[in-house]
Parts: sequence; C-alpha cells; structure tokens
Amino acid sequence: MSYIEVVNSYKRYQMGDSEIVANENISFEIEKGELSIILGASGAGKSTILNILGGMDSNDSGKIIIDGNDISNYNSKQLTKYRREEVGFVFQFYNLVPNLTSKENVELASEIVKNASDPVTVLQEVGLAERINNFPAQLSGGEQQRVAIARAVAKNPKILLCDEPTGALDYQTGKQVLQILQDMSRIQGATVIIVTHNAAIAPIADRVIRMRDAKVKAVEVNHNPQKIADIEW
Ligand SMILES: Nc1ncnc2c1ncn2[C@@H]1O[C@H](COP(=O)(O)OP(=O)(O)O)[C@@H](O)[C@H]1O
Ligand SMILES: [Mg+2]
Repeated sequence: MSYIEVVNSYKRYQMGDSEIVANENISFEIEKGELSIILGASGAGKSTILNILGGMDSNDSGKIIIDGNDISNYNSKQLTKYRREEVGFVFQFYNLVPNLTSKENVELASEIVKNASDPVTVLQEVGLAERINNFPAQLSGGEQQRVAIARAVAKNPKILLCDEPTGALDYQTGKQVLQILQDMSRIQGATVIIVTHNAAIAPIADRVIRMRDAKVKAVEVNHNPQKIADIEW
C-alpha cells in the first residue's frame, strides 16, 4: 500500500441551481518521502484535492488514505487533530500573521504539537538566521515564503502541501523556494506535494499528476528528476 492513496474521489460544489464537479473520479498514489507535483490549468481541480488531502475540506465519495488511515471517514474532531498534527500547509500568499516576528509565526505552529522542531533551527535551515526577529512587512516575498515553509515544517508534518508556492515570487526567488521544498523531501524525508499551473517546474518532481477538467489525465513517475538550477521558465 502506498503512503498516500486517493481512490475514486469525487467533490461537487452546489452553486445556486448548478452543480460544479471539481474532482471527478480522481485516483492516484504517492510514496513516502517523494516530491510530487499536481499540474494543471486554473480551474482543473488542483486546490480542491490538495485541501481534501490536508483535511481542510472533505470529499463527497471515494477514499483518501494517508499512512493507512482513510481520512474521508474522519469526523470534524479527528480532522482537526489530523490538520494540526500531521499536515503542513504553504500558500501562494504566505498567510503570515503581520504583527508577529518570523520566530513567533513559526512558534504559532510548533507550540501546538508535541514533537516540533526548534523554531530558530528551522528558520536557520531555510536561510533566515538573520531574519528571526523581523516582522513580515520587513521581509521580501521570498523571505516571507521561507518563513511560511519554516512554519509548515516545524511541526514535522507527515505531509507538506504547497498550493502555488512560487506563484507570487519572481523567477530566482521562486527557484530558491523550490530548492528548499525539494531539500525537504531529499534531506528531511518529508512527503511534499506542490500544486502548480507551471509545466516548467514538473521535471524536478519524482511524480507528476496531471489534471484537466476535474480529472486526473496522467501520472508520471520520474526516475531522474532534474536539478532546480537546470530548469527554466
Ligand atoms: N468553494 C467553492 N464553491 C464553488 N465552486 C468551487 C469552490 N472551490 C472551487 N470551486 C470550483 O471548482 C473548480 C476547481 O477549482 P480549484 O480546485 O480551485 O481549481 P485549481 O486549483 O486547479 O485552479 C473550479 O471550477 C472552481 O470554480
Ligand atoms: Mg488553485
């Protein structure tokens, strides 16, 4: 059994009289420690499945198995515990708390779990040793995203979910952030899932899940992922 298994998952949204099918019979697997990319155009249903994997939303039918547990059967209390203890989330627009420093933003996450990493150590790992006591407004976009990654990984989550993590960043800064995410998988052994519409990023992944019109169109396993320094867009 794979570490993550999505089996025949459906998600529909009701919009007035019409129904939108955001995920239609989605199935894929992801192995522990992989860097996976979910690739597809805007509206393909990528964020929907990422939110479901993170326990921030639930599917209508189908299984969502994480490390042997089907979270689609969880009640809201179980889902809260799952989100809190087992998932790290990185968003396009960082979502930092503006009146807390980098360290305090990371503590916000590390304080709620038992086996958290030391916030300062994690900030050092993402290259922010000199920015520990700065507020988000004093940081560049790339630095803010690195604080957000530190906040997500300080909990030592089972899975690190990233929704368009480079979407608001310039080219070089985006590459730095991708390098940190790839290192999280390669060095720390984290299971990292990145959602993107940018096909140029796909070659860095161990696995690419291609989505179109709410469906999974293809899953490719890449035995020789490219170095981030070697990709261009
Ligand atoms: N909360 C919601 N209510 C209604 N429709 C939604 C909601 N979330 C997403 N959708 C719709 O579901 C489809 C897939 O959305 P999404 O998963 O956000 O796509 P992507 O992340 O690939 O751009 C889109 O048509 C979107 O408008
Ligand atoms: Mg999206």
